[in-house]
Amino acid sequence: MTKDNPPILILHLSPRANGSSGLLMASFLKGAQAAGAQARVLAVAGKSIEGCRACGDCYRTGQCVIDDDMEPFYQALEAAARIVLVTPVYFYGIPALGKAMIDRAQVFWSRIYKLGQKREFAAEPRGLVLAVGATKGKDLFTPIHLSMKYFFDSVGFPRKFPFVGFRRIEEPSDWAADQLAQVEGYGQEFVRGQLDLTLL
Ligand SMILES: Cc1cc2nc3c(=O)[nH]c(=O)nc-3n(C[C@H](O)[C@H](O)[C@H](O)COP(=O)(O)O)c2cc1C
Repeated sequence: MTKDNPPILILHLSPRANGSSGLLMASFLKGAQAAGAQARVLAVAGKSIEGCRACGDCYRTGQCVIDDDMEPFYQALEAAARIVLVTPVYFYGIPALGKAMIDRAQVFWSRIYKLGQKREFAAEPRGLVLAVGATKGKDLFTPIHLSMKYFFDSVGFPRKFPFVGFRRIEEPSDWAADQLAQVEGYGQEFVRGQLDLTLL
């Protein structure tokens, strides 16, 4: 992988591996791979990830005291210069298991904001969020957009990132073929550094 084309870390935040957001994730992955990216998917489904205990240990050590399935996420997040988060909307937010993973990124926040450690990246860091919900409310994706903004900030990524939300998708069968083709296109554009849109 070159500096312009670093591996992509795709984080899938639904507890349902093969649901609507799973299909969204798979379509993005297909497009990214077609554009020559190496991508790794880490899904929270089936994992045991405890929420942050706010014990404050990471404020001093930069490490989390909890020993659970978060470890591969930590390792991948330490190395990633491209992060794509794929999530459904649950109660206008990120599903609990996915949110637990996000909260545990407090370790990275501590390293930057408590311990003064500057992050070094193999390439300029770039993020993206893809979200899906069953309803069509105007503010459906606003809470997730804000959570992700501060997640990206915690891991040293820019607070500005493309975000695409899809409404009225309750089940995988609700996706239209042209929507999934569009997502594949986003995968290609993201790899080429051409994706710059916010559809909240
Ligand atoms: C616990 C739960 C809460 C949900 N809350 C919302 C919601 O607040 N707004 C909405 O539009 N859809 C909501 N949905 C619907 C999901 O966003 C939708 O079905 C989505 O396609 C599921 O993606 P998944 O199969 O990848 O988990 C909820 C679904 C579940 C299971």
